[in-house]
Amino acid sequence: MKITVFGATGNVGNRAVNEALLRGHEVTVVLRSSVRANDFDEAVKVVIGHADNVTDVVKWSEGQDLVISATRPPQGQENQLLDTAKALLLGLEQTKVRLLLVGGAASLTVPNSNGTLVLNDPQLVQAAWRDIAVACFAQHQLCRQNESVDWSYLSPPALIVPGERTGQFRTGTDELLVDEQGTSTISLEDFAIALLDEAQHPKNSRKRFTVAY
Ligand SMILES: NC(=O)c1ccc[n+]([C@@H]2O[C@H](COP(=O)([O-])OP(=O)(O)OC[C@H]3O[C@@H](n4cnc5c(N)ncnc54)[C@H](OP(=O)(O)O)[C@@H]3O)[C@@H](O)[C@H]2O)c1
Repeated sequence: MKITVFGATGNVGNRAVNEALLRGHEVTVVLRSSVRANDFDEAVKVVIGHADNVTDVVKWSEGQDLVISATRPPQGQENQLLDTAKALLLGLEQTKVRLLLVGGAASLTVPNSNGTLVLNDPQLVQAAWRDIAVACFAQHQLCRQNESVDWSYLSPPALIVPGERTGQFRTGTDELLVDEQGTSTISLEDFAIALLDEAQHPKNSRKRFTVAY
């Protein structure tokens, strides 16, 4: 597949690029500057652009099979996450390319809570994370309201950390996945497997899904 990745210098995006290369896909990464262009394998096409710019989204998605976006705005500018989601949806509406959006856990429900959102659980979203969680919630709402783009929204568990590529994890829909010890986590490497599995075998068109151990 021809895959364009926004956020490729980030924790999630970088693993997504590696997983895509491992599976033999043609990867284009859209960076905001060329400073880290040499971080990537020579098989990767590196271009410059912004995920919150519709023209760039159109330009770098044209002719591709899929766009993966895993961008995170700087602290204090959490609303950029919405600008990015809007630009991606507007751009991909034009080019008719699928979107696999890495979102947040905020819009998942807490298990055994009568539907309490992760966003509203202070144990899961402490004050310092509130603004990004609110932005992630709104980002998911934007996708849900969009009927013209073939989007999928992958919500991480509470924690995504560097770790092993095991291929062993559970998949869910709208509820936070928590293990028997009460932990909600996955490695970045396994998270990337989930992303590329969905890329190659779409099961969640216009749906949100989540993964965790
Ligand atoms: N439990 C959770 O809910 C949870 C946990 C972890 C992550 N996440 C979500 O996963 C996503 C990725 O997180 P991460 O940890 O991988 O982030 P990260 O390591 O901070 O990387 C962010 C990436 O976004 C890029 N970026 C930011 N704004 C951009 C824009 N306008 N256009 C293009 N690229 C842009 C950055 O590029 P530069 O190199 O140019 O700065 C960087 O590559 C975020 O949406 C985050 O909220 C959720």
